[in-house]
Amino acid sequence: MLEIKNLHVSIEEKKIIKGLDLSINKGEVHALMGPNGSGKSTLSYVLSGKDKYEINDGTIDYNGKNLLELDVDERANEGLFLAFQYPMEIPGVQTSFFLKTAINSKRKYLGQSEMDALEFAKLMKSKAEELNISTEMLKRDLNVNYSGGEKKKQEILQMSMLSPKMAILDETDSGLDIDALRIVSEGVNKLRNNDNSFLVITHYQRLLNYIKPDFVHIIADGKIVKSGDYSLALELEEKGYEEISQTA
Ligand SMILES: Nc1ncnc2c1ncn2[C@@H]1O[C@H](COP(=O)(O)OP(=O)(O)OP(=O)(O)O)[C@@H](O)[C@H]1O
Ligand SMILES: [Mg+2]
Repeated sequence: MLEIKNLHVSIEEKKIIKGLDLSINKGEVHALMGPNGSGKSTLSYVLSGKDKYEINDGTIDYNGKNLLELDVDERANEGLFLAFQYPMEIPGVQTSFFLKTAINSKRKYLGQSEMDALEFAKLMKSKAEELNISTEMLKRDLNVNYSGGEKKKQEILQMSMLSPKMAILDETDSGLDIDALRIVSEGVNKLRNNDNSFLVITHYQRLLNYIKPDFVHIIADGKIVKSGDYSLALELEEKGYEEISQTA
């Protein structure tokens, strides 16, 4: 699904990712944990195709395609989805309109007809209900004046409506209350199947109680310093990054 080899990335001459390797197969959930500033969000931006990042070395293969050659829209249409650590506010664009546009753009790319208004409304309502998002909120401008947790839930709504092949969740759990954390995790678990993959970036082992990852990776200073199974997250919680990195 996703194969990153020897990735080196810099921004404004500053080296941030320094030789990162990561391989994610179909049906797998990987968790990425690491100290502040270690390059987690940078990696997710690079994968989503945000500009300004300079790829100095390495390759990223996504389903047999060179990901770095695809533009932002192509990546999304090819089933890549990023839930941002800080979701953007888009004044003047209703959330429901945004969701509809995102869905139909993908359908068009895949040679499918547009989803009709009724079908879309039904889908949005049922997904929003699952996530405990009011339809009132979907009439408001995208993320504008949403609380921190509401923005995160909106990202998950978008994800569940698009049902991506590869979803990257950048600290989606930060700022969620206990109930929302459970609801959002259930949303992810519901979507999870043998054909799609997730990269879940988090600081908290707690999230991984709900979304059980197949693999856990620790990133420090732009590269993965340790990989393991779920028990690595527990070990990390106990020992902290410093000690874990020393034993890597
Ligand atoms: N535009 C930029 N110009 C200069 N430095 C940048 C820029 N963007 C990111 N950085 C730096 O790159 C490093 C990695 O940032 P990144 O956001 O990827 O960290 P992170 O692992 O996601 O951290 P956190 O856990 O706090 O979210 C940080 O030191 C950050 O200050
Ligand atoms: Mg980050």
